[in-house]
Amino acid sequence: MTELHLVVDRSRGVRAGVERALREAIRTLPPDTRLPSSRSLAADLGIARNTVADAYTQLVQEGYLTTARGAGTHTVAQASKVSGPDIGDSSGEAGFLFDLRPGRSDVSTFPVAAWNGATRHVLNTRPREALQYDDARGPAYAREVLAGYLHRARGVQADPDQIVLCSGVRQAAALLFRAAANHGARSFAYERPGQPAIPVQLHRAGLQGRPIQVDRYGLDVGQLGDAGGVLLTPAHQFPMGVPLAPKRRTDVLRWARATGAIVLEDDYDGEFRYDRQPIGALQGLAPDVVAYAGSASKTLAPGLRLGWLVVPRHLLAAVIEEKTWTDRHSDTLTQLTLAALIESGAYDRHVRAARLRYRHRRDDLIHA
Ligand SMILES: Cc1ncc(COP(=O)(O)O)c(C=O)c1O
Repeated sequence: MTELHLVVDRSRGVRAGVERALREAIRTLPPDTRLPSSRSLAADLGIARNTVADAYTQLVQEGYLTTARGAGTHTVAQASKVSGPDIGDSSGEAGFLFDLRPGRSDVSTFPVAAWNGATRHVLNTRPREALQYDDARGPAYAREVLAGYLHRARGVQADPDQIVLCSGVRQAAALLFRAAANHGARSFAYERPGQPAIPVQLHRAGLQGRPIQVDRYGLDVGQLGDAGGVLLTPAHQFPMGVPLAPKRRTDVLRWARATGAIVLEDDYDGEFRYDRQPIGALQGLAPDVVAYAGSASKTLAPGLRLGWLVVPRHLLAAVIEEKTWTDRHSDTLTQLTLAALIESGAYDRHVRAARLRYRHRRDDLIHA
């Protein structure tokens, strides 16, 4: 049995302090180490036995410890490490067993063979000139293929010349905000709660951010007033999960047409619905007032930084200008590879398999 030297910070209560100290200690112990009995640890710490027993129970539930009748309490194998793939933790946290942070796709299932095959296909079949500096929007072939995919998968209406390939939804939003500001917008509404980056991005684009409450029907469209635009996640509100109600969908389009405002649709996970029919893109109803942003961050991997913006005609030149002066254009080879992956059918197969895997995980979580 191991001696534990715990330093218990009691500032947030003894029980919480013991739990925290135990978590810290467990991280440094080898798997299957037997812990002192609750009675003996309680005596060492000069606290009630129940407090230690409760802390042990909590850590069993969290997956740090196991107990078996008569065998005492042991650390589990690998409790100190996240099992499975590197999930890219940048916050310095460690020691969690389940990563439930939103917005992380399972990159361990990235379709390596299909991606390599598509890259090889592109390099073997496209002229080398394809790797020269290109159109700020990305190669025409990639935009054509993507236009077809977005139409059949999400009901998006886009001519290839209206598509700007870029570095994820993050850059798509930045480009659109700056273009809207150049077109005279002063303010832009966004969902609250919502993606925390948005108010920062609006501020950086010189726009006044206007947070608008989300309820169970999505963003309260009646509050939009004279905003120059609104960012929405209408298929699946982030983070609340509700779709924008049908009446609000039509109301927001009416509002945009009446006021000359722009709607930015963030379709960040449009392919992933598990418990209901997917709702088609709002853009398909009104391509003249809705800009549509999407990316491969959920379907393939965020690290590709591969996204797209479908731009209404009146803002197209302004968006292209922003893109040109930001980074000339995004990575051509990645864009061509995505197009080849879509054309071969491998992208659809991967998305279908990913949807099923995520669905099973979701069911397991709800069940648990
Ligand atoms: C609401 C929302 N929009 C967009 C994105 C994707 O951003 P990007 O395409 O830049 O990776 C995320 C990622 O987590 C998100 O949560």
